[in-house]
Amino acid sequence: MIATPSPLLTTAPVERFFGYYPGTVAVITSAHEGRRNVMSAGWHTALSKEPALYGVALGRTRYTHALVTASGAFAVHFLPFERADAIAGVGSVSGRDGLDKFARFDLAASAGAVLDVPILHDAYVAYECRVRSVHEAGDHDWVVGEVVALHHRPDAFDERRVLDAERARAAVFYGRSTFEALGAGERAQHRRIG
Ligand SMILES: Cc1cc2nc3c(=O)[nH]c(=O)nc-3n(C[C@H](O)[C@H](O)[C@H](O)COP(=O)(O)O)c2cc1C
Repeated sequence: MIATPSPLLTTAPVERFFGYYPGTVAVITSAHEGRRNVMSAGWHTALSKEPALYGVALGRTRYTHALVTASGAFAVHFLPFERADAIAGVGSVSGRDGLDKFARFDLAASAGAVLDVPILHDAYVAYECRVRSVHEAGDHDWVVGEVVALHHRPDAFDERRVLDAERARAAVFYGRSTFEALGAGERAQHRRIG
């Protein structure tokens, strides 16, 4: 029996590093019966291309969870590094008691193209999602949405639809309130074989 898989690794209590990143943090908007809200979600991913499905883990105590499950809709946004303040901010306070986080964190928004969800002006890409299924996963629910509309900043992407880091620097989250601007690094293109 090998104690650890590598001499460079050591075991740690699960809660010590669990859920650490780095990775991008999605900003989730929702609305229901005249109330709207916005929060951060580091646990999210694309799931399917045809149909386009996107999944996000929503803690059942989040006000967002209540609005998303009641309305059947949410929007997923990616904001640039310059708005890391808002990404951190909307993830640190709840809208449950009436706080307007859009005003508090200076997030302008317009109506969705298809669904009743706010679309943030600062996003370089955003997906409008209609809830397809909700799966219990521990203290979170894994909410799967079908992407029914997509918004993007054309100037932020090159002709191959790759994010142009000169124009929109993704905000990479490292945990512990730490963000880094993506973009200055080396890029390599590795082609698929076959
Ligand atoms: C960087 C970051 C990532 C987060 N990721 C998640 C997540 O994936 N799922 C989740 O339910 N909460 C996540 N949170 C916590 C919620 O954003 C936070 O509880 C928020 O205040 C909920 O707002 P609401 O009650 O107005 O919906 C994250 C917070 C931060 C700062």
